[in-house]
Amino acid sequence: MTENQSLTVRDNRTGEEYELDITDGTVRAGDIGKIGKTDDDPGLAVYDPAFTNTASTRSAVTYIDGEKGILEYRGYPIEQLAEHSTFLEVAYLLIHGELPTKEQHDEWVHEITFHTFVHENLKSLMQGFRYDAHPMGMLLSSVGALSTFYPEARAISDPDIRHEQIVRMIAKMPTLGAWAFRHAQGKPYVYPDNNLSYTENFLSMLFKMSEQEYNPDPRLSKALEVLFILHADHEQNCSTNAVRSVGSSQVDPYSAVTSGIAALYGPLHGGANEAVLKMLRRIGTVDKIPEFIEGVKNGDEKLMGFGHRVYKNFDPRATIIKKAVDDVFEVTGVSPLLEIAQELERIALEDDYFVSRKLYPNVDFYSGLIYEALQFPPEMFTVLFAIPRTAGWLAQWIELVDDKEQKIARPKQIYTGDRQLDFVPAAERWAK
Ligand code: SDX
Repeated sequence: MTENQSLTVRDNRTGEEYELDITDGTVRAGDIGKIGKTDDDPGLAVYDPAFTNTASTRSAVTYIDGEKGILEYRGYPIEQLAEHSTFLEVAYLLIHGELPTKEQHDEWVHEITFHTFVHENLKSLMQGFRYDAHPMGMLLSSVGALSTFYPEARAISDPDIRHEQIVRMIAKMPTLGAWAFRHAQGKPYVYPDNNLSYTENFLSMLFKMSEQEYNPDPRLSKALEVLFILHADHEQNCSTNAVRSVGSSQVDPYSAVTSGIAALYGPLHGGANEAVLKMLRRIGTVDKIPEFIEGVKNGDEKLMGFGHRVYKNFDPRATIIKKAVDDVFEVTGVSPLLEIAQELERIALEDDYFVSRKLYPNVDFYSGLIYEALQFPPEMFTVLFAIPRTAGWLAQWIELVDDKEQKIARPKQIYTGDRQLDFVPAAERWAK
């Protein structure tokens, strides 16, 4: 390949030629804008609905190779982090860009542990929801409400204030998520237990009843650690793009993260794990799978938990989660839906409809089975995604705020509507 990292573009409308530099596999849209630019013409723009081939930022947080199924947080392979690390250590890595020393780790864990409580007024706000409110709607609202309890968070460039909000959000997400769960069950909210680890405390706030102290099964808290690590970040996905876009207006981090929760709520994104379980329940038995697959091929529905914008051979997280499924079932017993999921995966991986579209199980396909085995209702599954993803959203938000190349996000459009219509007042319009 030549050293000449540039494009020579000829505008056939004018015969003009342009040299466009290629940097990091991209051409700057600003350089494209020089093509055909005159006093009357703004020049060419790039049209890319859903940004399928557009880089919106430079980032050092997460690396993904979709063809090779590679996922690395700050350069560390996800397989090694899932096996040897803890979620809070990974959260530190994502936020600070390097693994903590013992002193840094202990300080980080202490700070998170002692920020798990939530203002009592926020508890009252959550208790105002209907009994059947979706926990993601409750989480969305309560994280947005947090911005009103910490108005100092608007000082987004002050490192100490920024650090305090990051600690608060990582610490309080499990509390808010657990309280949304308890609300749906009509059970009393359980306060954090600072003697427990991050995932043990989460399990305690979810499931503790009248016992003095809740002692979670270590296999379940370990499985949650792995799931939280796997869900912590994933480059410029839909919800991270929302956090960056909203954050580009220089709003406080609580409001920016709230936009990420809203995006994750969607069934094509974080809501897929809830949709997977509902899909498996709807299929019901293995013999119904062929009929369901036909429905997918007819375009009547999607095979939820399959496909990915980036991964085209396999999602490395799905591979790791499949192992965690066995560990959890050792404690909870095997889900009857596992057989359907395994048969569905076997058929899909052999069927040309899915193979030709490079549709493989993604992170959501098996995670739902674990969450169901842990006694979570499907509505809680995306909350279990949002809790760890908060660390990734905040790491990406920090990068955005500190990136001198970034400014308020405001894409162009191709206008397809009417022009220069004469307004006819209502009285005249309706008189006819
Ligand atoms: C997450 O981006 C991230 O990193 C997200 C995430 C993260 O960690 O943040 O990894 C988490 O969101 C995982 C994805 C969870 N979503 C689902 O499981 C929902 C089901 N999957 C799809 O909706 C879909 O695969 C997407 C949304 C994940 C990806 O969609 P793309 O990249 O826009 O692909 P596409 O919709 O253009 O599909 C290409 C073709 C189409 O067929 P044709 O129109 O060419 O005939 O594949 C088909 C699609 O109809 N297709 C599916 C399918 N996914 C894509 N057909 C059936 N079932 C599916 N699941």
